[in-house]
Amino acid sequence: MQKEIKSVILAAGKGTRMKSNTPKVLHKIFEKPLLGYVLDNVKNIVNESFVIVGHHAEEVTEYVEKNYKTAKTVLQSPQLGTGHAVSMVCPALENFEGQVIILCGDTPLITEATLKKFIEYHNSNNSDLTVMSTIFENPTNYGRIIREADNSLKCIVEEKDATPDEKAVKEVNAGIYCLNWGKIKPAFSQLTSNNAQGEYYLTDIIAWGKKNNLNVNAFILENSDEIYGINSRSNLATATKIMNDRKLNSLMDNGVTIVDPASTWISEDTEIGADTIIYPSTYIEGKNKIGKNCKIGPCAHLRGDVEISDNCKIGNFVEVKKAKIDHNTNAGHLSYIGDAELGAHINIGAGTITANYDPITKTKSKTILKDNVKIGSNTVLVAPVEIGEGTNIGAGSVITKNIGEWALGITRAPLRILENWVKKKM
Ligand code: UD1
Ligand code: CA
Repeated sequence: MQKEIKSVILAAGKGTRMKSNTPKVLHKIFEKPLLGYVLDNVKNIVNESFVIVGHHAEEVTEYVEKNYKTAKTVLQSPQLGTGHAVSMVCPALENFEGQVIILCGDTPLITEATLKKFIEYHNSNNSDLTVMSTIFENPTNYGRIIREADNSLKCIVEEKDATPDEKAVKEVNAGIYCLNWGKIKPAFSQLTSNNAQGEYYLTDIIAWGKKNNLNVNAFILENSDEIYGINSRSNLATATKIMNDRKLNSLMDNGVTIVDPASTWISEDTEIGADTIIYPSTYIEGKNKIGKNCKIGPCAHLRGDVEISDNCKIGNFVEVKKAKIDHNTNAGHLSYIGDAELGAHINIGAGTITANYDPITKTKSKTILKDNVKIGSNTVLVAPVEIGEGTNIGAGSVITKNIGEWALGITRAPLRILENWVKKKM
């Protein structure tokens, strides 16, 4: 029988190098906090997650409670190191006999597939404790994996405690662990802080396990990008780029044309159907679903909660947010479509705006366009508003009321032509 697995995610640290008022784990990639990536990557593996919070605990707790029903937060105050952080779950897991995987909230590039392989490795080796490691050409700042002469694990040494010989080691600690909780739990009351940083190091559980004759192993990760940790704004930009490249390659492998990968940004949570073409300088953030045979961009901006069916066109300088768009509908140029439901075979003229926001009541309202509606250029649809099937809207209209089927809605002032007006002025 599969053992029960829980996760502990460390997210209490300060993140000093971000130079920010926002806690590090709430910094975002494609509008999703770093912590969200980690929680999403474990959600199909574990039945419960504990997020250790401390610095800006209220904000982090609010994010977790709002978005992850199977996650609990546990306060660590003061923050005395990564080992101390994990010990905070000891009371909650007092009688737990399954496995615990430990991850860091600032390492968003780890994938579900890798975590599954990691746990498989742990199980097939009958391991009591497995640490994930990888080889870095430049291992600076990471804990080094120190091995015995027979290549078995000895301990982990932090950069600040390392001798020059130890610093030369290129195998580093990824900060991800799998433990048979019952066996390793006693370590947490025995950790000490006799080290350069005066902290209770989680990494010391390796030496503790060896000393207590437990089966301790390292799983060496080949794609070291996955454990890239974020400590600075520059790291954040690098991680965004890695994540984007990964996404674009997977989309291209699945039949999506990306005309210019260098200028295209697409979030991990966006699905795109085959034969859709993404033109340059397009930015797609949040969670979206785009169908087959669509054309998106150049310079389109999809902001999340967007669902677009097959054969649609979202052209240049079109921004779409929280909208459902049925098949064969086009918005070719310079438009904003937000909080909207668009049927099939609709044409949105250039410069059309859904006015969805009332700044006085601070509320957002919906625009609904039924199948075959044609909106003339430069129309403002003042929401809440619904336009019935087949109805046309004259260019330049401001639509403030619902209109039924197959009608023409037009608010344009009548055209006046003053003959010879210019000549008289001259
Ligand atoms: C840690 C590891 C190091 C490893 C690296 C991988 C230790 C002692 N070192 O170093 O071996 O190579 O991760 O990225 O574990 N945190 C808390 N409470 C605390 C301290 C930290 O929750 O009291 C959290 C932080 O928010 C962060 C994570 O633990 O998410 C790691 O802490 P950080 O200070 O970034 O450790 P590193 O120096 O990167
Ligand atoms: Ca770190």
